Amino acid sequence: MQGDMEVGSMRAELAKHGQEHLLNHWDSISTEEKKLLMKELQELDFKELNEYFNRTVGELESAGQKLDDRMEPLDEDQCGAMVKSTNEELDHYESLSMSEIGEGRVGILLLAGGQGTRLGTSYPKGMYDVGLPSGKTLFQLQAERILKLERLAAARTGKDGKITWYIMTSASTVGPTQAFFSSNNYFGLKQENIVVFQQGTLPCFTFQGKILLAEKHKLSRAPDGNGGLYRALRVQGVLEDMKKRGIKSIQLYCVDNILVKVGDPVFMGYCLAKGAECANKVVRKGFPTEAVGITCKVDGHYQVVEYSEITNSSAERKNHDGSLVYSAANICIHFFTFEFLERVVTKNEKSLQHHVAKKKIPFVDESGEIVSPSTPNGIKMEKFVFDVFRFANNFVVWECLRDEEFAPLKNAEGAKDFTPSYCRNALLSLHQKWLKMAGAQIVSGSGTEYPLMTSPASEGNNNSESIEDEPEVVLTEICPLLSYAGEGLEPLVSGKKLTPPIHLTLSS
Ligand code: UTP
Repeated sequence: MQGDMEVGSMRAELAKHGQEHLLNHWDSISTEEKKLLMKELQELDFKELNEYFNRTVGELESAGQKLDDRMEPLDEDQCGAMVKSTNEELDHYESLSMSEIGEGRVGILLLAGGQGTRLGTSYPKGMYDVGLPSGKTLFQLQAERILKLERLAAARTGKDGKITWYIMTSASTVGPTQAFFSSNNYFGLKQENIVVFQQGTLPCFTFQGKILLAEKHKLSRAPDGNGGLYRALRVQGVLEDMKKRGIKSIQLYCVDNILVKVGDPVFMGYCLAKGAECANKVVRKGFPTEAVGITCKVDGHYQVVEYSEITNSSAERKNHDGSLVYSAANICIHFFTFEFLERVVTKNEKSLQHHVAKKKIPFVDESGEIVSPSTPNGIKMEKFVFDVFRFANNFVVWECLRDEEFAPLKNAEGAKDFTPSYCRNALLSLHQKWLKMAGAQIVSGSGTEYPLMTSPASEGNNNSESIEDEPEVVLTEICPLLSYAGEGLEPLVSGKKLTPPIHLTLSS
């Protein structure tokens, strides 16, 4: 009886919000399934969800509007760059960061909650092995870079460096991610310095605002975007954890970038030197029509503007020296002070707008059959991690070199770019460059020196039409525990001839 009343009032509640179809299959599901569905429905705020939907779809209607008249570039003094800095400046930035690490005040936030649909694996992207000589996964490369950075900080400051690594996962990646780290003994890091947490999900809607069912007793859900981070930091107690540990400086990055300098001391040091509360690490846009988001101001607030939101004439606007006015391309590597993060999480998170992603979403139809659509049939609502830039008062960007720091794994083999071999070659070519700079010769069995591999990530190289023009692959890999960013190799390899496959490790 109680159950009937419960269903009756839920039906009324759903009808009020146009979602009564969610109980269409009530009579054909088991008692256990009824409990699960009722629990899921009771936990949702349908009024709020409909508001999200209406706001998000409103954004869809205004899509295509250009922002040119409201945009302006960043000021010159907010823009630092590797290529514009002297060795003394770079060293100063590094030393500022090393002392932060030495004091245990550095946190690293990894975004690893994505579904990786384009890559198409059934396991988390961080567990992907792109085919390096070592066979290392993205997670392992990143863990070893953190470990090396801690060791470099300890050597420089005399204090036991400590970095806390916060890993954001989602419903589908949390279990396998935890199991992978645990079965690999946390890749040498201390378990207590790794905090895995989980972002939330939101129901998926049809274009008409109806929530989709994934099963008769289960709603179709998707992670709430990488900007779901800010809510998760609050509800999962991560912000509290940071506070307890005394973390002051936080760097954020995406799991898919094989070249990422995790915890980059130069970038962080630049931010510290400038007293910035929020910062974006960028690469220079390769060519005016490149489909990347660029960092600028809109209506006086910092923002990443998508290529589709500006006209060609703005995209092509040049400075006196011929460089593009809007060239600070977003690569999803950010810096936040703890105070800034705390402020946006507690005060601004709710006002962050959802964005629309039109997707093919499998659903249960009226007859109870599961349908896998061949064209987009609904929307996922996602927040974007960079949308908090608008709340920053003191904001800077740091430009790094693309072939040294940005090669994301997005697509399965066979796509034009950002494939596993794209990423592997980007890393091999960088490591070959490091060895050459350290005075080694990379030679074939017959003694002929290999030319430097062209990095697929070289500026302007990522618009190549086909993967046919792939360079000859020279298998040269350096373990992050031996060198974080090319440093310290000279005494080991100067004047030596090395023949691939090369995998230099601490013990080699
Ligand atoms: P992408 O937008 O490239 O998504 O994520 P993805 O899941 O890797 O791949 P597709 O689009 O499904 O093919 C950029 C970064 O944001 C993280 C991803 O894990 C990746 O590091 N992300 C994305 C999240 O952490 N949560 C999300 O909800 C979405």
